[in-house]
Amino acid sequence: MTAMTLNSVNFGAAKAVNFEYVGLKVHQNITGARPHSVKFVPRALTVNAGEAQGGGPVKKLGKSDEECEAAVVAGIVPEAPPVPPKPAAPAGTPLATPLPLSRRPRRNRRSPVLRAAFQETSISPANLVYPLFIHEGEEDTPIGAMPGCYRLGWRHGLVEEVAKARDVGVNSIVLFPKVPDALTVLSYSKLCCHFTSTGDEAYNDNGLVPRTIRLLKDKYPDLIIYTDVALDPYSSDGHDGIVREDGVILNDETVHQLCKQAVSQARAGADVVSPSDMMDGRVGAIRAALDAEGFQHVSIMSYTAKYASSFYGPFREALDSNPRFGDKKTYQMNPANYREALIETHEDEAEGADILLVKPGLPYLDIIRLLRDNSSLPVAAYQVSGEYSMIKAGGALKMIDEERVMMESLMCLRRAGADIILTYFALQAARCMCGEKR
Ligand code: PBG
Repeated sequence: MTAMTLNSVNFGAAKAVNFEYVGLKVHQNITGARPHSVKFVPRALTVNAGEAQGGGPVKKLGKSDEECEAAVVAGIVPEAPPVPPKPAAPAGTPLATPLPLSRRPRRNRRSPVLRAAFQETSISPANLVYPLFIHEGEEDTPIGAMPGCYRLGWRHGLVEEVAKARDVGVNSIVLFPKVPDALTVLSYSKLCCHFTSTGDEAYNDNGLVPRTIRLLKDKYPDLIIYTDVALDPYSSDGHDGIVREDGVILNDETVHQLCKQAVSQARAGADVVSPSDMMDGRVGAIRAALDAEGFQHVSIMSYTAKYASSFYGPFREALDSNPRFGDKKTYQMNPANYREALIETHEDEAEGADILLVKPGLPYLDIIRLLRDNSSLPVAAYQVSGEYSMIKAGGALKMIDEERVMMESLMCLRRAGADIILTYFALQAARCMCGEKR
């Protein structure tokens, strides 16, 4: 662990080395490289010691080094600014004898340079994944509960938003579709009095998500596309799995559908498929299904610890995906549970997950740290819709500084152990990191 830290520090320092500061000068040796010369002579980049060029010092200002030293030895000391006077404390400050402290942690915080030198965690646009809502429409429709977020038209608005994100270094997105209602209803369940469905639209190769992936990959081949694997956008009852007539969410039957969904997304060009459904055994089954179809290179980001959280409210409004009955507590985890996250972690690792995700983010920092300390796999945190909307609302009401709270919350997710963060703030935060003001 220590060695790894040292390595990365050394690497960082090496990149920043400026030859001028170490007494070396970079100069180009272009001897022989004349224009239109018949013979190609490669330009060589050589590094020479600064002083070596003329055999002596580059600049001569007056006295030699020996003369300067002799002057000081003789007691003729050149002038320099005096030590500044001790700044006055306000009148009435009590006279205190200094506390006998051997350690004063404030010493390492006393200037911006020191604080920057000792900063333990960093964040860059490369750590961010931008969740985007898409629909079949031509227009971008604002999402009331998520100021600044839209259901983007898959053909235009989405492509523009991705371009903006790429401009500031966010080259990873995750897609969430609003599927036409008519494609989500299949049959009527008399017992539950609700429409239900087996979510077959989820693996339609010409459905909204696969079509969008193909369009994006055509325009931006290096864009990393994460997809959501779950049935809720494709089922009128808003559940992530197939609902039996007595309301039970079927596990293995759902996994069967999820495998088809993941393969369809992979076929369209998805880079990382992300099961967010919390069915048991879905990671292993999806891995096998992908491999059987030749998608060994497609990654799985498992929603390892996804809690039955009220922080998803605005998202469900965005996709109109509120469960029509009951809740998601038979598959999503109880927010009171900690150890249970380890059971899910061990399962997902054994089944072949490439990335482990914790969701929500900020209220679950302990879970992020738990996974970080118990797995070597990359950990992702999902700063969910409710977290986003609270910061937006607090900012709009001038109760908090939106931008600072946004940056602090993202940094804290990194400090807790997240490698990547899924956040609706991705574009705004990356612009902020690039020094752009809103
Ligand atoms: C459902 C899904 C949800 C989110 C992502 N995928 C909602 C849910 O579980 O009901 C929530 C994301 C957010 O709140 O930002 N598969």
